Amino acid sequence: MAAKTYCLLSKKGGVGKTTFALNCAHALAFSGFKTLLVDLDAQSNLTKHLLVKKFGEDFRKDGLADISKVLLRRREAPECVMETGYPGLYVLAGSPELDDLPLLDPRLTREPARLQSILAPLYPEYDYVLVDCAPALNWLTRMALMATTEVIVPTQPEAYALQGLDDLVPWLDRMTATAQLFRIVINMYRGNTQLHKVLAERIEATYPGRVAKQKVRLTIDFAEAARLGLSVFEHAPASSSALDMYALCFELFGLSAEAVQQKMRERATV
Ligand SMILES: Nc1ncnc2c1ncn2[C@@H]1O[C@H](COP(=O)(O)OP(=O)(O)OP(=O)(O)O)[C@@H](O)[C@H]1O
Ligand SMILES: [Mg+2]
Repeated sequence: MAAKTYCLLSKKGGVGKTTFALNCAHALAFSGFKTLLVDLDAQSNLTKHLLVKKFGEDFRKDGLADISKVLLRRREAPECVMETGYPGLYVLAGSPELDDLPLLDPRLTREPARLQSILAPLYPEYDYVLVDCAPALNWLTRMALMATTEVIVPTQPEAYALQGLDDLVPWLDRMTATAQLFRIVINMYRGNTQLHKVLAERIEATYPGRVAKQKVRLTIDFAEAARLGLSVFEHAPASSSALDMYALCFELFGLSAEAVQQKMRERATV
């Protein structure tokens, strides 16, 4: 069966795209689902998070086989997929070179389907593929939208973020040939403030049926976990952050106790 494919998208920076991609992928992988993370952001936060712990700070020194080399057709995708050290969790690394690609191969920006043709042969091998995007609707993000079917948009319950959604969602709805908005997820939520309550209600009222019921609360756990190169499940397993994130995965990916048990059993027999 081919993977379910998602991209994490927002025009606004720092709203939790990488945090969600990473922690959801961890939750899916440890629930038994084979998961591929694709880092399509030149900042490469996701790649650093996963690879510094494995290979040290100079993990790029020996020429890391990353997605930019695949996009330039210098390497094949399957040989660039890396093990992360976590069972069932794989990564196609990002690179600062992603920003330079249009100069290295000007045809790239005119071939929005190139990423799709690179990733599609990998899909039968995975249960889930999550693509982490840069905070922009640039040519790379458009490639991600062609290569996946569902868009997850994290947002903070803040006035400027609402304006961002008002731009992004109608734009996505017009792009009928590409991935469609799947869920908006309210992140960094403080339920004890009137402002957050009101703004979350406004987001839900503006986009009915398109906002995840599970909000992710603001805590220091995510930043602490990121600093240590850990998922929130490893860093703070009994925290509200781990609980929010796991409940969000159950909701977003339609997981159930039966589906998880089934996958665990399959994995145990391989
Ligand atoms: N629920 C949360 N509570 C507190 N901090 C959070 C939460 N979610 C994410 N963060 C922190 O916010 C910062 C930005 O998150 P992240 O890097 O995931 O955003 P991003 O959308 O990927 O950013 P960019 O657009 O720059 O790629 C990180 O330090 C992360 O640890
Ligand atoms: Mg990011």
